Amino acid sequence: MIKINENYLKLQSGYLFPEISRRVRAFSAKNPNAKIIRLGIGDVTEPLPPAIIEAMHKAVEQMGSRADFKGYGPEQGYDFLSEAIIANDYKSRGVNLENSEVFVSDGAKCDTGNFQEIFGIDNVIAVTDPVYPVYVDTNVMAGRSGNTDKTGRFSGIIYMPCTPDNNFVPELPKGKADLIYLCFPNNPTGAVATKEQLKIWVDYARDNKSIILFDAAYEAFISDNIIPHSIYEVEGAKEVAVEFRSFSKTAGFTGLRCAFTVVPKELRAWTKDGKAVEVNPIWNRRHCTKFNGASFISQAAAAAVYTESGKKQVRKIIELYMSNAALIRSTLEKLGHEVYGGVNAPYVWLKTPNKKSSWEFFDLLLEKANVVCTPGSGFGSAGEGFVRLSAFGEPANVAEAMERFKKL
Ligand code: MLT
Repeated sequence: MIKINENYLKLQSGYLFPEISRRVRAFSAKNPNAKIIRLGIGDVTEPLPPAIIEAMHKAVEQMGSRADFKGYGPEQGYDFLSEAIIANDYKSRGVNLENSEVFVSDGAKCDTGNFQEIFGIDNVIAVTDPVYPVYVDTNVMAGRSGNTDKTGRFSGIIYMPCTPDNNFVPELPKGKADLIYLCFPNNPTGAVATKEQLKIWVDYARDNKSIILFDAAYEAFISDNIIPHSIYEVEGAKEVAVEFRSFSKTAGFTGLRCAFTVVPKELRAWTKDGKAVEVNPIWNRRHCTKFNGASFISQAAAAAVYTESGKKQVRKIIELYMSNAALIRSTLEKLGHEVYGGVNAPYVWLKTPNKKSSWEFFDLLLEKANVVCTPGSGFGSAGEGFVRLSAFGEPANVAEAMERFKKL
């Protein structure tokens, strides 16, 4: 008899975003004339800029030429891309890395979900609440939790509430956490952490022999100069942190797929009998076994993000999304709403009016304004009473969504 992995049965029936899509489809079917504006999932809407398209055309030509054709590439990514990443994203901020510390992949969702695999099952996980669901669900699938309580929290996982009272930056956990997930700029709250705040976490991880999985997928949206873009800007972080980055939101690659993970050589985990083990070769082993590399074409496209024209074009698109964020924030503030985020991140975190639950407000917004948001409770129990509005959208649609908010 084939046995199922019963850990999957502990999970809620559907992943958050497909569940939202299902509800929106049902609404559309009943209201075929409704012009729905989607500020739900953080999916980009602007087409790829010319420098990236040009690089892809060139890569396609290469794939059609006997002399330049590429079969399997290095599982860790081509050097041309790792070098561009290191020079532009790290060296420029005082962080030195080697190519072998950068692992190119097809997405930060997979990387943040997969990374837990290389750690023992008895590690204690700490996550913020609200949280990007992938961190929790993948640990539940692996068996690092018990069942959920009535608030939807899994036993065996440490949840660190992020609320307006702590500016959505969690306090250190009371218990000892082995694997800590942090995401800044934050999805879903749009909050950021200063160097001093990250230093507290790095020190905690060094003192407790823990590892921080730092999701920096939204770093390109930081506008405030004092906010670090990488956890490695904090002294000692290379000993205790893995960093995830993505071209999805930065450069519009959600449909193209390219991301990377940094695993420093200094990073250590331990055997049961206390022997230090380098994490980089273990991740390399896992990566080479389960992944054959991101496609040459998407890596060529990603490298174009770092050319002079690529940088300018990508920056213009980021500015467009951030002006959407500013419009959402200012409109909602003027309407008297309590809003957070949207300054260094493409997400605005809105307190629902009149104590409505997240899903009640989701339904109201869909029915009355035909606008899709993401219910905060989908990110955890501390997200109840909030919804997330994504600034990824065509400006005219975002402006129209704000007009509809005014009439709510
Ligand atoms: C989100 O809307 O939270 C993101 O688009 C999800 C993701 O990046 O997987």
